[in-house]
Amino acid sequence: MRSSSAARRNQKLKRLKNRSVLLGVSGGVAAYKTADLVRRLKDDGASVTVMMTGAAQQFITPLSLQVASQNTVYTSIFQDPLTHISLPAQADIMLIAPATANIIAKFANGIADDILSTAFLAFQGPVVVAPSMNWKMYEHPVFQANLKRLLSLGIRQVGPESGPLACGEEGAGRLAEVAAIIDAVAAAMTEQDLAGKKVIVSAGPTREYLDPVRFISNRSSGKMGFSIARAALRRGAEVVLISGPTALKSPSGAVLRQVDTAAQMLRAVTEETEKGASVLIMAAAVADFRPAEQARTKMEKQRVRAIALDRTEDIITRIASRKKRPFIVGFAAETGPDLKRAMLKMQTKKMDMIVFNDVTEEGAGFETDTNSVVIIDRKGKVRTGLRSKDEIADAILDRYLKIKTRLYFPILLKN
Ligand code: CTP
Repeated sequence: MRSSSAARRNQKLKRLKNRSVLLGVSGGVAAYKTADLVRRLKDDGASVTVMMTGAAQQFITPLSLQVASQNTVYTSIFQDPLTHISLPAQADIMLIAPATANIIAKFANGIADDILSTAFLAFQGPVVVAPSMNWKMYEHPVFQANLKRLLSLGIRQVGPESGPLACGEEGAGRLAEVAAIIDAVAAAMTEQDLAGKKVIVSAGPTREYLDPVRFISNRSSGKMGFSIARAALRRGAEVVLISGPTALKSPSGAVLRQVDTAAQMLRAVTEETEKGASVLIMAAAVADFRPAEQARTKMEKQRVRAIALDRTEDIITRIASRKKRPFIVGFAAETGPDLKRAMLKMQTKKMDMIVFNDVTEEGAGFETDTNSVVIIDRKGKVRTGLRSKDEIADAILDRYLKIKTRLYFPILLKN
């Protein structure tokens, strides 16, 4: 038990391994969240050096961020005379979180009068800004013009989110979630090899209702599909995520379509593929059966003897029969190591690729953060071994790209 949970922890994908993040904290109330941000960047493998404006120090102390980053925190250009040149020279990426209206105005106009704004001018790599402020300030045309200027120069923006603000008002201005900021940092340093592609991903279970309160469903958590959506976004794709009920947060940047039943999922997948898509990845555990009849009111248990079931329509088969169809990736969750059923499934449903996993294998079942799969297509098989679901997602997308660009070198396995 102990060793398997340790193994699982070690499976966490260090997306920012050996990357050096120069984090600029400016003076917004959300600055207090940066201790967690620093910790999570480090969890992802990054080394973090923090610079703070004077106003930022009103909200969080340099000491807190020194402890979190285990690094010197820079608060002044004169702390060490050449740091505004040496810090950017050593960094792979610059992240400004929270980014106030003031610091964005300085960046947009080349004003360099503090450690953040001078380091910004001396930095030649990718920059991500996470704006956070009152919604009226965010919507102000002067602020918007400054932000637009930065975006036109290739600077990336993450957030803000809408919701209750520190000032008691509601609107767009909340600092993006830490996970979304880290996704944006990872994306800024990832080759955009899916740019221009539209990826439709289905995820999670479906619910097939017996009556308004009871349904038949399955144990799918949606984690695999959400990992695929995040990986495709990070690699520059346009992503539509069609998800059954899950407890997961939608990856920022994806178009999320929430559905309940297999019939709703079929409709959403059909509509999205009709608009045109490069690839459809069916990671959802779509119910194969639904109750033949649905009661309008709650059924009385004394009256129920047996439940008659009907088959649901197969989504992959429907999409695969279309003339103009995307590249189709299906999943086969099996309870044993035999690949034959999966291969047969790929042929009968006319998929282009199938991802096999044996749910009885340790760390490869439901609700886990890891998986171990065999990616099968007409040219061969790739066995991933036990990996994080994020890594498996990248392996699936790598294989898809290799097939599309005919650069594959099939690794043929014995069974
Ligand atoms: N799928 C689908 N439409 C359905 C059911 C499943 O498109 N109505 C997709 C799933 O999203 C998955 C693949 O088909 O990509 C799984 O195939 P399926 O034959 O349903 O696998 P199992 O449910 O494991 O089937 P079986 O019980 O026959 O093993």
